[in-house]
Amino acid sequence: MAECPYQKLFIYEIEGELILPPDLADRKFLGCWREGDCSYLFFTLKREREVKALLGEEQIQRYLSETIIDYKDWEAGQPLTPIRLAGFYLCPFWEEPHPQPEEQLIRLDPGVAFGSGFHPTTQMCLRLISRLYHTTTLPTVLDLGTGTGILSLACLAMGAKRILAVDNHTLAIATAQKNAVYNRAENHITFVCGDVLDYLATPADLVLANIFFSVLSSMLDQEVFFNKPWYIFSGLIGTEVNKFITRMQRLPLEVVQVLDDNLWFAILARNTAST
Ligand SMILES: C[S@@+](CC[C@H](N)C(=O)[O-])C[C@H]1O[C@@H](n2cnc3c(N)ncnc32)[C@H](O)[C@@H]1O
Repeated sequence: MAECPYQKLFIYEIEGELILPPDLADRKFLGCWREGDCSYLFFTLKREREVKALLGEEQIQRYLSETIIDYKDWEAGQPLTPIRLAGFYLCPFWEEPHPQPEEQLIRLDPGVAFGSGFHPTTQMCLRLISRLYHTTTLPTVLDLGTGTGILSLACLAMGAKRILAVDNHTLAIATAQKNAVYNRAENHITFVCGDVLDYLATPADLVLANIFFSVLSSMLDQEVFFNKPWYIFSGLIGTEVNKFITRMQRLPLEVVQVLDDNLWFAILARNTAST
């Protein structure tokens, strides 16, 4: 087993937006996450001095904090290892893959984007993708909130031909693009950094949306969204699922299957107005 290249994460919280020099990548920089008024810079080594040196003299940005965590605690709560799930073999890029002949291999470097394959919301999507592609041909996919690109890669492995993958975080898009290259899928996926709500009218055979309840709910408000035959919604927790299904009942969407895992829910839905 090869060693995971990320042991510790050093996360620097800055108020304001930083202009990042292009040579940061050489300094163990994983990426920058923007959230509200703050920027979070991720490194695999301590870089407090370097980050402070990036702050402008005009004091437009302010250094807030340094947090150090184990990489294994970032998403999975355990070391990332290969996972066998619903016919997929998800393998971190630093591990030697050993898929069974019938398994679809997906190589991943999640970095600090969401979508390592360990989270229940992702796993339920993978189960529904596997189920759907075993009975239906779905060449085009709209992946809303792509994260690491894991669900797009799963659809391609199952026979999809063209995918539009959207995320509003540059770090997620950069990670997903890297993962597409690892899987030789870069010619089949178009990545866009933007708000998913601006892409709801995009025609596709299947929509993947593993995203917050508030964003999922906003999708249901848009009539242009209902021009696709199949939908996988995930990211619903607790009572949100019942609220969401009640909303769906007034729309041309039929619930085909609901999965639950550890308080999380995912829904496979069919468009009843679609031929
Ligand atoms: C729960 S993660 C899902 C990642 C991956 N699809 C998976 O299933 O593992 C949700 C992703 O949606 C992105 N996101 C959240 N709100 C968004 C919005 N309004 N527009 C675009 N992307 C959004 C986040 O940055 C995050 O990468």
